[in-house]
Amino acid sequence: MKFVITAGPTREPIDPIRFLSNRSSGKMGYAIAAAAIEANHEVVLISGPVNPPPPAGAKLVRVITSDEMHEAVQAAVRDCDVLVMCAAVSDYKPARVAEQKIKKRNEKFSLELIPARDILKSLPQSRNFFVVGFAAETNDVEEHARAKLATKNCDMMVANDLSDPNIGMESDENAVTIFSRGGESAKISRASKKTVARELVKIICANAKKVLTKKF
Ligand code: C5P
Repeated sequence: MKFVITAGPTREPIDPIRFLSNRSSGKMGYAIAAAAIEANHEVVLISGPVNPPPPAGAKLVRVITSDEMHEAVQAAVRDCDVLVMCAAVSDYKPARVAEQKIKKRNEKFSLELIPARDILKSLPQSRNFFVVGFAAETNDVEEHARAKLATKNCDMMVANDLSDPNIGMESDENAVTIFSRGGESAKISRASKKTVARELVKIICANAKKVLTKKF
């Protein structure tokens, strides 16, 4: 199968030297890319700015902003079988990017933010590829993940519980619950991101094969 996997954070510029971003390390997305390659799948890895070296065999597309990630995903999904949106894409971006460095003043300052384009929501409703979203939640994990599965029109939603600071973002370990459209759920208990990724790729492939009309 051909996988398109997004990883890492995006950066939304404020002025020439400042940006809004988040703590995503890209480790989970890179581990999923490595696990998919190991299972003999073709991988396009669309990555925000992170440090880990890309897994050998992945076609790497580097992006910085949510708009760049949006365009890279639109282009890559034209001929893919599975899209895994593991990237922590910014939900908001500055309404304007200052052309020059914003000067410090001794008074309150507020930045106007507008919603960034939602990449998952902008995918076509009718498509022949399987879509996996991620939900990083600090509370009411199941409720929020199921709501995102529906509103973001995904086939599967992988929920990270961020209430445990020892796993998930930036960590080398993770534990996830996977929610599917049919109402089923599955848990992958705490393990290295490499192990979680291998298990996830197996679950994604098994479910994608049921849904896609193309035969593998
Ligand atoms: O709404 P929230 O950001 O929590 O949703 C997370 C999921 O949505 C992830 O799969 C992420 O990659 C995706 N996302 C997106 N476009 C955005 C923000 C998030 O596709 N602008």
